[in-house]
Amino acid sequence: MTEADQIPGEDPLDAAHDGPQDRVLIIDFGSQVTQLIARRVREAGVYSEIVPYDKAEAALGPVRPRAIILSGGPASVHESGTPQAPQAVFTAGVPVLGICYGEQAMVAALGGQVEPAHDREFGRAELQIIDETPLFDGVFEEGERAQVWMSHGDRVTKLPPGFRAVGISTGAPFAAIADDSRQLYGLQFHPEVVHTPKGAALLANFVREIAGCSGDWSMAQFREAEVARIAAQVGDEGRVVCGLSGGVDSAVAALLIHEAIGDQLTCIFVDHGLLRQGEAREVVDLFRGHYNIPLVHVDASERFLRALDGISDPEAKRKIIGRLFVEVFEEESEKLEDAEFLAQGTLYPDVIESVSATGGPSVTIKSHHNVGGLPETMKLKLIEPLRMLFKDEVRELGRELGLPEAFVGRHPFPGPGLAIRIPGEITEEKLAILRKADAIYLEEIRKAGLYDKIWQAFAVLLPVRTVGVMGDARTYDYVCALRAVTSTDGMTADYYDFSHAFLGHAARRIINEVRGINRVVYDITSKPPGTIEWE
Ligand code: XMP
Repeated sequence: MTEADQIPGEDPLDAAHDGPQDRVLIIDFGSQVTQLIARRVREAGVYSEIVPYDKAEAALGPVRPRAIILSGGPASVHESGTPQAPQAVFTAGVPVLGICYGEQAMVAALGGQVEPAHDREFGRAELQIIDETPLFDGVFEEGERAQVWMSHGDRVTKLPPGFRAVGISTGAPFAAIADDSRQLYGLQFHPEVVHTPKGAALLANFVREIAGCSGDWSMAQFREAEVARIAAQVGDEGRVVCGLSGGVDSAVAALLIHEAIGDQLTCIFVDHGLLRQGEAREVVDLFRGHYNIPLVHVDASERFLRALDGISDPEAKRKIIGRLFVEVFEEESEKLEDAEFLAQGTLYPDVIESVSATGGPSVTIKSHHNVGGLPETMKLKLIEPLRMLFKDEVRELGRELGLPEAFVGRHPFPGPGLAIRIPGEITEEKLAILRKADAIYLEEIRKAGLYDKIWQAFAVLLPVRTVGVMGDARTYDYVCALRAVTSTDGMTADYYDFSHAFLGHAARRIINEVRGINRVVYDITSKPPGTIEWE
């Protein structure tokens, strides 16, 4: 399976759509924030699915959406060969909302004009409401000036027949447009981002009032539909193997599948030796002990460490770990007779940073792998029941499935584990030092009642030694960096504002109790420009 095959939205289209009645189809033109549109729609209680623009027409039949939203994207409509909105979208008889590039694609498709703008608009802008439209009902009033978030170089210069401007901004004379009779709407700004404060209300109004969706979609419904779908896909005989990583995602995927097919599921837990303190045991106890789910526990740590010996490049580490994961996994699954399906706990954000809507790789910031990017030769059929869900939705689903709160609330942990928290070469010694420091740090965070306020907190062991003095002796030991961030989806993040007293206390404990560390620093970088992990 190549990255290009992993375009979000492929799986759900194959699904028997016997789940939620009201569905919104989001057509992706490659914006980095398309997933936020899906989030906002679901927050309004309406199920949404994302398809790449070139699969949009084929998706209309199976999905039968009540409304369509066209996402933003990096291309320019007026250049040749750029993504187009299929005509079928506008003749489907359902309301359509175009956002940013989506607005421009709609205008271009319906006979208007889009041109490069003299003044590009990026960031906060002011939208002035110049006319009423049902799209603004209960959200904006005529004459109102509202903060919105813009990000465009091109702009609409001539409206298609039937449209009128309902909102303007300094850089966009057609910042909001409407054809009320056909229920076609366009916004030059991004309502899906938090920097457009009334954006969520606007999207909710579109899907609930204009499209008439009932707004009763819930995780309980998702669970029911997915269980039925998995049971139908696997049948009475099929055997599924599921990779457990120790994190929430694969655990929830496994529980969901177990509910659907019982002991036709076997979990394989590849312990790569890069987990945090006590983590491997917890996973085994939970699955074998608590849930009684068949579990193969493979201790492959030596193999991973040998392969990582002398490797310091972050991407090389990820690739080696990803490849080995697959190798070990395949070896184990081959031992299980008749394994036909492979289940993974891949989430939507795992996919989105590595692929673009055009099918080619977008800028690779980090090559994410969850439980292994699968090779094309993989014979197993893929089941990824969470690939359309966001992290907080997966947690909700976990609760719904009765996963213990302590497990559900766990901070995300990357597939490559501690390997990407030890910049430079990885050794057993460094892993042991980091595990201890990390455990103390997390223990202090829990004791202070801060764990649930933080998206991710972890220690990083830097490949730098500095001089210190302990007792009467000179020390020359590693630096440990502490990281804690708040975030809603891992796409952007802010550093957590601990008190100095807390940081001082945690640092003292780490230096006193962990041999090998004599200096602790706190990372106060946000994402962007930083990333959450150090590698
Ligand atoms: P970054 O460091 O890119 O991380 O800001 C965003 C989120 O993704 C997690 N992460 C990974 N998860 N494999 C994973 O499964 C990876 O290679 C990987 N790299 C980063 C990170 O922990 C954070 O939650």
